[in-house]
Amino acid sequence: MRNLPRLVVVSNRVTPLTMRQAASAGGLAVGVLAALQRTGGIWFGWSGETTHRTPTAAKVFRTGRITYALVDLRESDFEAYYGGFANRTLWPLFHYRIDLANYDHDWYKAYRRVNLQFAELLLPLLEDGDLVWVHDYHLIPMGFELRRLGARVRLGFFLHTPFPAAQVYLTMPWHRQLVADLCSYDVLGFQTEVDLRQFREYVELELGGQMQLDGTVRAMGREFVALAAPVGIDVEDVVAMATSAEARRQALRVAATLAGRHLVIGVDRLDYTKGIPERLRAFELLLRDYPAQRRRVTFMQISAPSRESVPEYLDLRQTVELLTGHINGVHSEADWVPLRYINRSFTRRALMGFFRISRIGLVTPLRDGMNLVAMEYVAAQDPEDPGVLILSRFAGAAVHLRDGALVVNPYDVHHVAEALHEGLTMSVEERRDRWERMMSVLRRHDVVAWRQRFLSRLESVPLPQASDA
Ligand code: F6P
Repeated sequence: MRNLPRLVVVSNRVTPLTMRQAASAGGLAVGVLAALQRTGGIWFGWSGETTHRTPTAAKVFRTGRITYALVDLRESDFEAYYGGFANRTLWPLFHYRIDLANYDHDWYKAYRRVNLQFAELLLPLLEDGDLVWVHDYHLIPMGFELRRLGARVRLGFFLHTPFPAAQVYLTMPWHRQLVADLCSYDVLGFQTEVDLRQFREYVELELGGQMQLDGTVRAMGREFVALAAPVGIDVEDVVAMATSAEARRQALRVAATLAGRHLVIGVDRLDYTKGIPERLRAFELLLRDYPAQRRRVTFMQISAPSRESVPEYLDLRQTVELLTGHINGVHSEADWVPLRYINRSFTRRALMGFFRISRIGLVTPLRDGMNLVAMEYVAAQDPEDPGVLILSRFAGAAVHLRDGALVVNPYDVHHVAEALHEGLTMSVEERRDRWERMMSVLRRHDVVAWRQRFLSRLESVPLPQASDA
């Protein structure tokens, strides 16, 4: 058998070793863990701890097939790099929220400093020929720094968020530097063709570069590959979780409180990109415009806390709490409370159990790279009596699920309320038909297909010669 090169994954957030907190972990951690568990390899990233000293080496330990190499962040770097540039500059910008994007030179300097530091601490762990796969917006400059330090490895980068339209991206003072960083990878992966097209537009209009039909890009004096490789899920793993004893136990506990009512479920990190206030307003419109649904439905919104030191997230929390109080205050009856808002995370098994008994999965981000929750909701369903997925057209997942989901514009709350009504009254035959169509796409485009599509391109890139670095 052919010897595969060693895989080294790099991401800011490294999956908690038990997947207990995964409801707040986000799609990256779930997807990368699923990919790494099969291949084995190194997972390098932030330990989740801060320190007052400059870290001098990664803490290395092994669990199963994965060797973890974790680095603490200096307290001040954590504030400026993670809380600042990653979460208050790139995150809002890449999700089209220029109104929330802050352009601060000190944050940018900290971002570059941490990326260099990560590269320096990873370097001693690397071997010639490794496949180094860097993930997400926190670490865009890392590939450039690794090359500068002389690493003889193949370098891939995958962006889990959207890549914004050029006119949005151009508002950031460091737009050129960060695209130059992206151009120093060998393979660059985006979630969807839309993101790829937007990157291409920037490269062609701003840099005078070129992208060919096979994805070869010539820009900034380099040649590399850019492709769309949508992340998928491990379908069988989700099915197993959804039918596990823990899932059943948790689902029964909830079902016992529903008194036969339909359950609508939303599960997201408490993030302003997820469209939670709009979703709540749509639910309120359902209660107002379709009175027959009153008392027949319960909406459970699970929003795990996220990035709590960032002020915009605090504002969102207050907005959601106010809306929840308003909706329940206005619409509850003595024996029925329409909305359950839960501000904590659950085990993945419990979530899959909740999905399985929910008549509707409501996934309505205003903008989202992919959204694995939408896929997990589908995979967790009972084939005999599946629920309905209502999915935002602005989630990358719509690329795969548009044939079976009710696809909505999340800003159009009337449309979402109509879709809720349609889902609640849909025949079992139509639900099965839609579900089967979605399942076959999920199986074809699963996490293994994602990993293979990306890594096979990366593996085929010639290894840089010592003199190239
Ligand atoms: O999946 C997108 C993402 O931004 C990941 O990069 C990130 O790890 C996750 O969401 C959760 O966010 P955070 O790491 O800031 O808690």
